[in-house]
Amino acid sequence: MAPAAQLPFLFLFALCQLPLRAQAAAKAVPVVGNISKVDDSELFHIYYGQSFKVIKNSVDGKSYLLMQSNSRMAARTKYCTGRIKSFVVPLSNYSVDTTKFPVSFFELLGLLESFKGMTSDQITSQCLLKSYISGGIQLVRKTDMQQLTQFSAHFISNVDQQQACNFAAFVPLDERTPLQFVGFLYGCLKRAEWIKYLATFTNSEVRANSVYDAVRPEQLFNYDIFANNIRHLILEFEKKYVKENYMCLKKAAANLTSKFKPIVAWVVYNQGVWSFSKESFESEFVRDAGGENIDDTISENSYNVSDPDDMDNFHAILCTVDVVIDQTYVAQPEVYKLSTFLENMDVEDDSRFAFLTNQRVWRYDKRVYNSAVLDWFDGAISQPQLVLADLIEAFFPTGNYNTTYFRNIAKDEGVITMDPELCDRNPSTPMDPVIVPCQ
Ligand SMILES: *[C@@H]1O[C@H](CO)[C@@H](O)[C@H](O)[C@H]1NC(C)=O
Ligand SMILES: *[C@@H]1O[C@H](CO)[C@@H](O)[C@H](O)[C@H]1NC(C)=O
Ligand SMILES: *[C@@H]1O[C@H](CO)[C@@H](O)[C@H](O)[C@H]1NC(C)=O
Ligand SMILES: *[C@@H]1O[C@H](CO)[C@@H](O)[C@H](O)[C@H]1NC(C)=O
Ligand SMILES: *[C@@H]1O[C@H](CO)[C@@H](O)[C@H](O)[C@H]1NC(C)=O
Repeated sequence: MAPAAQLPFLFLFALCQLPLRAQAAAKAVPVVGNISKVDDSELFHIYYGQSFKVIKNSVDGKSYLLMQSNSRMAARTKYCTGRIKSFVVPLSNYSVDTTKFPVSFFELLGLLESFKGMTSDQITSQCLLKSYISGGIQLVRKTDMQQLTQFSAHFISNVDQQQACNFAAFVPLDERTPLQFVGFLYGCLKRAEWIKYLATFTNSEVRANSVYDAVRPEQLFNYDIFANNIRHLILEFEKKYVKENYMCLKKAAANLTSKFKPIVAWVVYNQGVWSFSKESFESEFVRDAGGENIDDTISENSYNVSDPDDMDNFHAILCTVDVVIDQTYVAQPEVYKLSTFLENMDVEDDSRFAFLTNQRVWRYDKRVYNSAVLDWFDGAISQPQLVLADLIEAFFPTGNYNTTYFRNIAKDEGVITMDPELCDRNPSTPMDPVIVPCQ
């Protein structure tokens, strides 16, 4: 589709560069009522104009121009180029490529009502499944561009595919913690902050802030254009937030260790070979939960079960480990038990391993749907505070906290199967984040 740009692009671009303060000084009367400030994520920025917003997404290199539906610009402007796409907001409906896509962000925002299409029903959201079963959502083919154009937007997480004009990338999983900066950048929180990205498409910024963090009222007093929102924001500020909860748990975990931190290894078995996983966000979760990752300097990282020398090396390292997190992929998580793990590990004498004698072998496949999809790849992205709370319980067991995503196979804990019947709210009602008790 040819771009029918009415506004000179350069003018628009110049506007986007203006800091908020300059716009406020100009005493503009904005149509935009709600704003989100991006504090932690590094992969997107949001700029607010009078009747539009621009998201710059550095994963797909695109700018998303979101024009308020009641603005003159919305009626006249359309962009669909390699670098800029326009949308009229709030979106009246949308579809989602639900393969590897954390739909829980939509639930937290309370947007399931306008969720009208999806490419797969292999999802772990009970309320979205309920909405699908009751006919509120149609299944669409991800390659059928014609069918997909009937939605105001189609959200995707794989940006390398062929795209139509209404495709919008949503890519929280691309947020990584650069290993050299760990401890400062809150990688696990950055992914959760992407709730603000989605919220701009539906004018739900106030809700996004109230889930993730709050724009502290005092930060807004400089900007008279936001005066109308202050009362509302003060009320929102009374609530508890994902970020605050995460930081609180992290602080509490830092105090739980006496002399030595528990050593934690994420391991994975694939086609006869064991290895240690070195995902930066996993290491960050371990540190934040008061644990210590097995030494990063262990360079050898492939242990062939048919090679006795390899297995000796692997077992030797495991002897130093206090907690094992086994992320081996299996088609049916419910049949994966400690015996499966031991068999793959090729150990007969378990007394050598502290994580076995102390019963600390965990997997993140506690919440599953249809034996196939794990909520670890959905709910755990939007609510990292729950992952942190689980890991704190795994590292410093109290016995009185029920984990959400992790199950201890050393204690024979089973999986929990997602069930649309268990959706405990009207799907169009926002899901509240779970705030873990923490002083
Ligand atoms: C701002 O957010 C509130 C609450 O989410 C919503 O009711 C209101 O319509 C929004 N304002 C605008 C201008 O979008
Ligand atoms: C989505 O909203 C647009 C604009 O309001 C409308 O034209 C279209 O028919 C809607 N599509 C669906 C599938 O509801
Ligand atoms: C952590 O421990 C220190 C020293 O024991 C104590 O002063 C501090 O209050 C504790 N912090 C928390 C969050 O419990
Ligand atoms: C593991 O070792 C066996 C026996 O040496 C070999 O046949 C097999 O190819 C190795 N597997 C991998 C993945 O290297
Ligand atoms: C954990 O779950 C069990 C079973 O649902 C329940 O009986 C128990 O009260 C829960 N414990 C806590 C601390 O929430």
